[in-house]
Amino acid sequence: MTLTEQEQKQLNELIDFLKIPSISVDSKYATEVSRAAAWVAESLKNIGCEAVEVIDTPGHPIVYGEIIVSENLPTVLIYGHYDVQPPDPIELWDNPPFEPVIKKTAIHPEGALFARGACDDKGQLFMHVKAVEAILAAGNLPCNIKFMIEGEEEVGSDNLEGFIKAHLDKLGCDLILISDTGINSLDKPAITTGLRGLSYMEVTVTGPNRDLHSGLYGGTVANPINSLCEMIASLHDEEYRVTIPGFYDKVRMYTEEERKDIERAPIDDTAFKTALNLKGLHGEKGYTTLERKSIRPTLDVNGIWGGYTGEGAKTVIASRAHAKISMRLVPNQQWEEISALFQKHFNSIAPQGVTVEVTPHHGGQPYVTPTDTIGYQAASKAYEAVFGQRPVPLRDGGSIPIVPMFEEVLGCKTILMGFGLDSDAIHSPNEHYGIKNFFLGIQTISEFYDYFVSLWKENN
Ligand code: BES
Ligand code: MN
Ligand code: MN
Repeated sequence: MTLTEQEQKQLNELIDFLKIPSISVDSKYATEVSRAAAWVAESLKNIGCEAVEVIDTPGHPIVYGEIIVSENLPTVLIYGHYDVQPPDPIELWDNPPFEPVIKKTAIHPEGALFARGACDDKGQLFMHVKAVEAILAAGNLPCNIKFMIEGEEEVGSDNLEGFIKAHLDKLGCDLILISDTGINSLDKPAITTGLRGLSYMEVTVTGPNRDLHSGLYGGTVANPINSLCEMIASLHDEEYRVTIPGFYDKVRMYTEEERKDIERAPIDDTAFKTALNLKGLHGEKGYTTLERKSIRPTLDVNGIWGGYTGEGAKTVIASRAHAKISMRLVPNQQWEEISALFQKHFNSIAPQGVTVEVTPHHGGQPYVTPTDTIGYQAASKAYEAVFGQRPVPLRDGGSIPIVPMFEEVLGCKTILMGFGLDSDAIHSPNEHYGIKNFFLGIQTISEFYDYFVSLWKENN
């Protein structure tokens, strides 16, 4: 892919942004997170945004900027996050995570930018900055634009809700636009219409008051690690359904018709297996791979620790064992309710001889966006114009907990115009983002505005 001078410049700017290790979860990086906020603010100023502010919160700052053309025109609020996931395990990266490099891959023959945050979400949010820059340079911005870029998405957006509630007037808009999701492939564009909710728990199982010699005590006391494993194993039945009482009570069921519609963007099981080097797939009985990761709720252990994990062998029964467990939720489950059900159930299944402590972390509700809105239709036209193919609606498995909150508080639908691929390895070592995806994304976003404003005028 030969890049124009302007494209090369855009890419270089993104590389600069990716060099900042804005890891929100790790307090050691707080200064770097603030530096990324300042970087975003600077880039908004540079393209001609007004009222650009870096707003401090008890956590990481929120960056705001706006371009108000006329109060008689609609307003699009662009949301994104400049914080990133920690890069570890760092030894599995082929290149350092904050020293971006461009490399070709089978899926990205034009090259992809390898760095933490390349796709999630620095690369994708930066497309919006560059799209708006291009529209402004051409002198035809057809509506008002507001940017709200946060630094705590990867840790649950704790301070964004308060910020929004305190600035309802300032943030008033007709539509929220986000690029923080994916498409099936460059040949098969899709618009994400559904995200799963999330309920995240941490559990600790405590047995004896100190670590014990596993020969002197083994067989006489409950081993907290054994107990934790038994408890976790019991959370699924043989059909791989979650066994927490009440877990499925509110889950929306779909008609055959609706299920067929969801399969319009099907997952190819063979390709899926091959990409992950798996012999077989696994999940709830009676559902397709796509359904398992979109319209069905799930439970997964994200981390488990305790006892001796160093070199060689140490004969010990640990006093404590821990796990982090997430549940992905679907309409119409409520995360607070599911967290409470988990807590009650997990406490109730503690074997004799151990005590259990369950601490809920953050959560978020599931989200579904309708396809009959002018926002969706404008996005659909924009993808079709750039990709030469009408995008299919895609129910995805990930979560952006702030999206349902936007609707609740701002009364506004969100359009998820993502351009990442599942193989981009977000949250994993060697995260990357296709250069072609980046530039097609900028183009698609640029196309969106005219379609949106024309449809809006027809309807107002
Ligand atoms: N951008 C992702 C979510 C995503 C990715 C949705 C791809 C659909 C397709 C977001 O940054 C993310 O990672 N969200 C977290 C939740 C958050 C509370 C940590 C997630 O889904 O685990
Ligand atoms: Mn993201
Ligand atoms: Mn993420």
